[in-house]
Amino acid sequence: MKLEKVVVIGAGTMGSGIAQWFAQTGCIVTLVDSSETQLQKALAGIHDSWDKLTSRGKLTGLEALKQRLSISTLDGVDPGPDLVVEAIIEDLDIKKTLFLRLTELFSSDAILASNTSSFPIAQMAEALPSPRRGRFLGLHFFNPATVMKLVEVIKGPETDEGLCHDLYRWFDERDKKPALCKDSPGFIVNRVARNFYGEPLRIVGEEADENQLREVDAVLREVGGFRMGPFELMDLIGIDINYSVTCSVWEAYGKEPRFAPHPLQRKLVEEKRYGRKSKRGFYTYD
Ligand code: NAI
Repeated sequence: MKLEKVVVIGAGTMGSGIAQWFAQTGCIVTLVDSSETQLQKALAGIHDSWDKLTSRGKLTGLEALKQRLSISTLDGVDPGPDLVVEAIIEDLDIKKTLFLRLTELFSSDAILASNTSSFPIAQMAEALPSPRRGRFLGLHFFNPATVMKLVEVIKGPETDEGLCHDLYRWFDERDKKPALCKDSPGFIVNRVARNFYGEPLRIVGEEADENQLREVDAVLREVGGFRMGPFELMDLIGIDINYSVTCSVWEAYGKEPRFAPHPLQRKLVEEKRYGRKSKRGFYTYD
């Protein structure tokens, strides 16, 4: 399978990491966002990361690498990429509108993929004209995308099965651990992980103070063996993103109580305390 030119749409937490990873594997990458400020911030962040890796002797070919990554508006982007990965806000209607636009902008050979954490690929595929659905699927990366090995490869009802297997092999050969997943709400990890967030939220309750959060995080990290505690991880993921994933998985399972969102999540979102990206979430960051 040939994946040389990749477009990543959405230059936030995930899109910038996904773009960085594809460029590091040798692809020519264009990063797109509706916000010019966000694009500049993402490019500066990626360059900064590459500069640091180079100065520590962990990366070579810095200039060639920087040349493989560019930023663009959607209208200015090359219409012939091999793969387009969407990583914009977790909102089904906005994603569907974008995908319809992508089918107009990009050639019919382009693979169109969504990094959605929770929306069924089948529902998003409805936005695409029927002939484009064979090359549409979910490619779900994990945060941080340059470090986390897992990529969930999610086949929609009309996705070409051979394409999923080719992508599986492509990632497998390049330092990722792909997993072929059923198109069920939350796929594998985000379904299992609901309780990793939900139970700790129920333990600390709405009036949680920082000591309680730190204690639960420490227990799961130091005793449970998880790399991060649930509150640290929610701050890294983005509380807004995590909340909308919780809501959509809960609704998809008929509002089963075990998947219910917690009032503290909603409260933090209302207060724009999104976690690391807004410098305040469960914890405060400099
Ligand atoms: P984010 O909030 O950090 O970034 C979203 C970006 O999308 C922003 O830069 C925003 O300007 C841009 N955007 C919004 N609407 C747009 C449009 N119509 N066209 C172009 N750009 C647009 O969000 P994050 O965390 O990067 O999440 C993106 C996607 O990745 C979501 O679907 C989320 O569920 C998924 N995801 C998130 C993970 C996480 O840990 N944050 C992990 C795995 C998947």
